[in-house]
Amino acid sequence: QMAAAIRKMFRGGELHANEFMWGAAVAAYQVEGSWNEGGRTASIWDVFTHQSKAMGLGKVANDDTGDEAAHFYRKYKEDIETMRELNLTHFRFSISWTRVLKQGMYRNEAGITFYKNLVRALKRANVEPVVTLYHWDMPDHLDWREDGIVEAFVTFAKLMFTELPTVKYWITLNEPWVFCKLGYQWGSHHLKCGHNALKAHARAYRLFKKDFAPKRPGAQVGLTLNADWRVPLDPSNPEDERQCEIEMDSALGWFAEPVYGSGFYPASLRKEYPHVLPNMTAADRNLIRNSSDFFGLNHYTTMYVDSTSPRAETRHRNGVVIGPHAATWWLYAVPWGFRRLLAYIQDKWNPPFIIVTENGMSDEKKSDVEDYLSDQMRIFYFETYLAELSKAILEDNVRVSGYFAWSLLDNLSWVDGYDKRYGFVYVDYGDAERNRTIKASGRYYSSLIRSVTYQA
Ligand code: BG6
Repeated sequence: QMAAAIRKMFRGGELHANEFMWGAAVAAYQVEGSWNEGGRTASIWDVFTHQSKAMGLGKVANDDTGDEAAHFYRKYKEDIETMRELNLTHFRFSISWTRVLKQGMYRNEAGITFYKNLVRALKRANVEPVVTLYHWDMPDHLDWREDGIVEAFVTFAKLMFTELPTVKYWITLNEPWVFCKLGYQWGSHHLKCGHNALKAHARAYRLFKKDFAPKRPGAQVGLTLNADWRVPLDPSNPEDERQCEIEMDSALGWFAEPVYGSGFYPASLRKEYPHVLPNMTAADRNLIRNSSDFFGLNHYTTMYVDSTSPRAETRHRNGVVIGPHAATWWLYAVPWGFRRLLAYIQDKWNPPFIIVTENGMSDEKKSDVEDYLSDQMRIFYFETYLAELSKAILEDNVRVSGYFAWSLLDNLSWVDGYDKRYGFVYVDYGDAERNRTIKASGRYYSSLIRSVTYQA
């Protein structure tokens, strides 16, 4: 079914079947480690985790930090070998801002060289890099609520566009909803963050189109947004239905409507924050509207919305969970929600292509390594989600040009530390070398890619 879906996608189109992106993703702070090596300076995440640890606050479970993480900085060559074993065609990673710009300001040769070497090694292995500029680890003096962030981000983007000329796929920001809403949720600060995030993204996009794209045919720049899917608990209750719409607007529409739609914020958001939602000036709108070559989507779960529940007011993962497969406290496997979300995005915004830039699940904590390695639950998750992806392509005619599993490696969860494992590859944190073992799900993904790319 997947192979048929891919054939359909690309038949007669600009792309060839073998250009469907079969990838896995990671982010710098979650895997690199070597936090103060090669001239890297502290990012907000280093400061946050170090402070929490020093004071025993447990802000991240067990006061885990990314100081060493999975040692990707040291072991990337071995990991590229694994990518080949997994038959990945693409690999998504992010740049640690303070590795390439000390304190966010001063060029750091060793850090830049690391990413140049990484890109070169990927290309040599025939794995196409997909580079996220910002996956949440910014220099400590910056703040998304302040206007200066826009210029600082453009400087960082320009440096990376210049230094990595062979990269064909760029993602400016990962999940602005998460870093704005969860980062600055008190009062209405998240709205200012969101406005600056949209401007920073769009400025980087325009810069690339003007100064870089002419010499780099086929190169694309996009934005990655996260969204769960929401369904009314009681379909006959119009209030549940309305609440779903509001939630989809405030999670996805907040960024998607300005970039892929009208260029304005969704009406429900304007109504909810009549005085504090930043004004979308004509200049902002010209800058932001149509500023993306693809729609990057991170999707994990679906929830019911129950408007009668008092929690409905929090507007954050407030739904009633859809069981029974709880992978972690917020993540329930609801494959059909994925298909509906994909169709919703295409119907509403009709982007050129959707790239699923993250999808996956973690394990509950287990005591036995063998249980981590024979991860049947994760196979089940991917099988069922990918079946829904093929239906979205075959039956709903959604244009999807790539799929990235989260994650290649077990890594640091922002909230649950190393207790949670998302990887195709098991990382032994008890071992100084961070030994790796491919899990059953990795083998499954590898043979899936081989079979569909062969038949396609
Ligand atoms: C996504 C992020 O929101 O969810 C990833 O882009 C993250 O970086 C993933 O790891 C899973 O979240 P968590 O908190 O369970 O690790």
